[in-house]
Amino acid sequence: MAQHHSFVPDPGNGRALRDAFGLFATGVTIVTACGPEGCAAITANSFSSVSMEPPLVLWSPARSSSRFDLFAGAEHYAIHVLAADQQELAWAVAKDGAALIGAALEQNADGVPVLERCLARFDCRRHAVHEAGDHAIVVGEVLRATMQQGDPLAFFAGRVARLDIN
Ligand SMILES: Cc1cc2nc3c(=O)[nH]c(=O)nc-3n(C[C@H](O)[C@H](O)[C@H](O)COP(=O)(O)O)c2cc1C
Repeated sequence: MAQHHSFVPDPGNGRALRDAFGLFATGVTIVTACGPEGCAAITANSFSSVSMEPPLVLWSPARSSSRFDLFAGAEHYAIHVLAADQQELAWAVAKDGAALIGAALEQNADGVPVLERCLARFDCRRHAVHEAGDHAIVVGEVLRATMQQGDPLAFFAGRVARLDIN
C-alpha cells in the first residue's frame, strides 16, 4: 500500500475507477432466470444483502450486457453464492449465458433453473428495479433460502480465488 493514486472519475480514466472499485473484495454469485426467449445465467459479484424485514437482496446488471433485459425484467430469479471449487463455472457463465442451461438443472418452485451445489441460494421475486447509470439495481424479495457448508469463492482485483476459511 505504498503508492497512492488519487483521481477524479471522468470518462478518460474509467480503467482506474474500475480498478478502484475492484479493490472491494466480494463473493461470487450466479443468477439464473427465464425470459420470453428462454432461460439464462449470469455471473455477478454485485450481490448484497439489504433488509431482514422484509428479506431483501440486490444485485446490479450492466445495461451493456446482452442479458440485461432478461435479468432486469425477470419476475422470479435465483441467486447462488458460489463455493471455492466453482471458479470454472463462474468464468464459463460469465462468457456464455447459456453455459448452464444445457445441463439438466432442477427447477425451484417458481420454475427458475437452479444449481444444486452452492453455498447459499436465494429464490427471489422482483421487488424493485432502480435506475443506476450504466447499471440497474435489481432488488428482490427472498421467498426461500438454502444453505450448504463449504469454503467461499472470492473476487478481488479482477481475479477469482478460493478462500480457505473452514
Ligand atoms: C466475477 C465476475 C463478476 C461479475 N459481476 C457482474 C455484475 O455484478 N453485473 C453484471 O452485469 N455483470 C457482471 N459480470 C459480467 C457478466 O457475468 C457477463 O460476463 C457480462 O454480462 C457479459 O455478458 P454478454 O456477453 O452476454 O454481454 C461479472 C463477471 C465476473 C467474471
